[in-house]
Amino acid sequence: MKILVTGGAGFIGSNFIRLMLGRYPDYEIVNLDKLTYAGNLDNLREVGEDGRYSFIQGDICDAETVEKAMAGCDAVVNFAAESHVDRSIGGPADFIQTDVFGTYVLLEAARRHEVERYLQVSTDEVYGSREEGSFSETDMLEPSSPYSASKAGGDMQVMAYHTTFGVPTLITRSSNNFGPYQHPEKLIPLFVTNAMADRELPLYGSGTNVRDWIYVTDNCEGIDAVLHKGEIGGIYNIGGGNERDNITITRAILEILGKPEELIRPVTDRLGHDLRYSIDCSKAHALGWKPAHEFEEALALTVEWYVDNRWWWEKIRNEDFEDYYRTQYEEREQA
Ligand code: NAD
Ligand code: TYD
Repeated sequence: MKILVTGGAGFIGSNFIRLMLGRYPDYEIVNLDKLTYAGNLDNLREVGEDGRYSFIQGDICDAETVEKAMAGCDAVVNFAAESHVDRSIGGPADFIQTDVFGTYVLLEAARRHEVERYLQVSTDEVYGSREEGSFSETDMLEPSSPYSASKAGGDMQVMAYHTTFGVPTLITRSSNNFGPYQHPEKLIPLFVTNAMADRELPLYGSGTNVRDWIYVTDNCEGIDAVLHKGEIGGIYNIGGGNERDNITITRAILEILGKPEELIRPVTDRLGHDLRYSIDCSKAHALGWKPAHEFEEALALTVEWYVDNRWWWEKIRNEDFEDYYRTQYEEREQA
């Protein structure tokens, strides 16, 4: 099988490419990635020399580039997206462009190329927040942020292309991922790298917001299961079954690193901050997939990876990144 992976230089996409090349000796992977601030070829250092892997730098919104990249591919797995909620609050345009329009460009090409499978990597955030119970795949979409609204828009295009044009689509909606190669703008790597440098950990609002955490390779295995065994036109929730509030995660990170709780700095809450995400994953479990990692162990592994791989994140945490965070918190404090 030859798979076009889009956004493969990002966090989950790079973990997925490593998994697929390791698992399937006769598969070929074409990675199409724009290399935005979140794309990083260091994530794929070990596979760069593999003859079954090729890289194209390009934008999923550019039909000509997509046309060339998809030539000869049997399947498409779309990870490419703007993915950070805080950035979507600061500027939604890129999110709508990539997550909605880019998805449309990929679907059009998938339709013309008659690919066997088009898998859209989506998120549990499209359902919105709920205080009790869990969302199933047929529940209404009530996204809260420009990020989750743009992902929901992408999902809707996927569903429409299946119904209208018969494109063989699949959608996975995963919960919050963590693990190696996650950009240090996201909660766990931001707090680990801040704590390592004795910097404050900016905890939004009350710190009681709950996310369901999944170790990244467990999500990648779920995507693999859906790609190979999912029912065409189907949607599959992929969760870790690890609901934790942010203060619990924060304290666990500090404990692993042996750092004091005084580093925690409560800051003004994120606008529209969803209280809790929770998904029912019985449909994916019925495919024979289950997450393999226990949360506390996987968190410890992740912290260890950031401790051992300063070379990877110190370059990313550059002056622009520090400026971005400083401005963000100053604006919040003034609001
Ligand atoms: P990421 O931000 O780490 O990576 C995104 C990648 O897409 C980057 O390599 C970037 O360069 C690339 N990209 C962005 N715009 C592009 C464009 N126009 N054309 C081509 N490439 C482009 O994101 P991630 O955390 O790896 O998430 C991957 C996917 O999984 C996203 O679709 C995201 O919505 C979804 N998701 C993520 C999580 C999570 O916890 N990280 C949870 C659920 C779903
Ligand atoms: P994040 O990693 O941005 O993922 P998402 O918003 O997509 O769930 O944030 C996870 C949780 O951590 C979310 O409730 C917001 C919170 N958070 C903080 O408290 N401080 C931070 O600096 C960041 C980045 C997130």
